[in-house]
Amino acid sequence: MIDSYGRKINYLRLSVTDRCNLRCQYCMPENGIEKMEHKDILSIEEMDTIVGIFAKMGITKIRLTGGEPLVRGGILTLIEKIKAHTEIKEVALTTNGLLLKDMAQDLKDSGLDRVNISVDSLDPEKFSRMTRGGHLDDLLAGIKEAKRVGLTPIKLNVVLIGGFNDDEIPDFVALTKEEAIDVRFIELMPIGEVARWSKNNFLANQTVLEQVPELTPVEEEDPTSPAKYYRLPGGKGKIGLISPITCKFCEDCNRIRLTPEGKLKYCLHSDEEFDLKKALDEGVDLSKYIIESIQKKPKEHNLENGKSILRNMVQIGG
Ligand code: GTP
Ligand code: 5AD
Ligand code: SF4
Repeated sequence: MIDSYGRKINYLRLSVTDRCNLRCQYCMPENGIEKMEHKDILSIEEMDTIVGIFAKMGITKIRLTGGEPLVRGGILTLIEKIKAHTEIKEVALTTNGLLLKDMAQDLKDSGLDRVNISVDSLDPEKFSRMTRGGHLDDLLAGIKEAKRVGLTPIKLNVVLIGGFNDDEIPDFVALTKEEAIDVRFIELMPIGEVARWSKNNFLANQTVLEQVPELTPVEEEDPTSPAKYYRLPGGKGKIGLISPITCKFCEDCNRIRLTPEGKLKYCLHSDEEFDLKKALDEGVDLSKYIIESIQKKPKEHNLENGKSILRNMVQIGG
């Protein structure tokens, strides 16, 4: 699959639910959002059918996202089914980590390759505040268990928020000293809730390099990765900077997204969607529609100019 800017599309981010066991302040409004009805979201079988079609069209990497993908019933079956498509070389999952303590072994046994885990503070009180009630201990136990069962390499995702966790940058960086774990700082994107936040909450990832000048760049292994990588001298893990605002990575984008209710999104920051579930229900040739619609993938986002999108992150999966 090649889009109209010559980019090869081989990575599908599949959001399997809009539900979550947390309510992070940057992801959801205080009172939550209206949940999609069960009948409106893709079944495990429908997701498998769609993955099969994408696999034949050149998708080799699938990432399961949410909401929180581990609260979706049938997630283990879905992973098994995806793994049965031999074209798919990697199945990964992005999670808030709270359920990993109990699920990591089953996920590994189902064929999941690796996990990225969100952790925005290492302070239990701040963590609870940002997630509106989450327990940091559960998350730390989840990280440990994921490591133990081999859902590796593990990447920790830290959304950098001015006035909230910028004082913890050195602590996050220090995690990579003794452990083969990658920590990635993500610039806050003005999506959904965050579009209304104060300018002071937005920090450029340059802040990380200013606070930790000993970080040295690491040779890029995967040009399509949104992160630029660095390392502490002698550090076992890497530090990644994902900078959608100050250093766009759209030129090398290889991703498309599918929302829980089966809408194909060409770009995280575009409200334009194609109703794949409807097309599936109508029994039309999906691959024809996919090829056509991929050509609508925009060249780049426009977030740095104050553009924001309507959906909340919990409905897209990042
Ligand atoms: P790897 O496969 O391990 O490289 O993971 P990933 O970075 O593709 O996935 P993950 O779900 O961990 O995403 C990390 C951060 O990157 C999240 O905040 C995503 O929203 C952001 N991200 C991923 N893809 C894109 C993209 O195409 N555009 C933008 N702006 N952000 C993205
Ligand atoms: N800006 C940047 N990253 C975000 N995430 C969720 N909302 C935002 C936002 N507005 C992150 C989550 C998770 C990943 C999938 O996206 O913390 O790590
Ligand atoms: Fe849940 Fe992730 Fe959104 Fe937090 S960022 S509320 S963990 S979906």
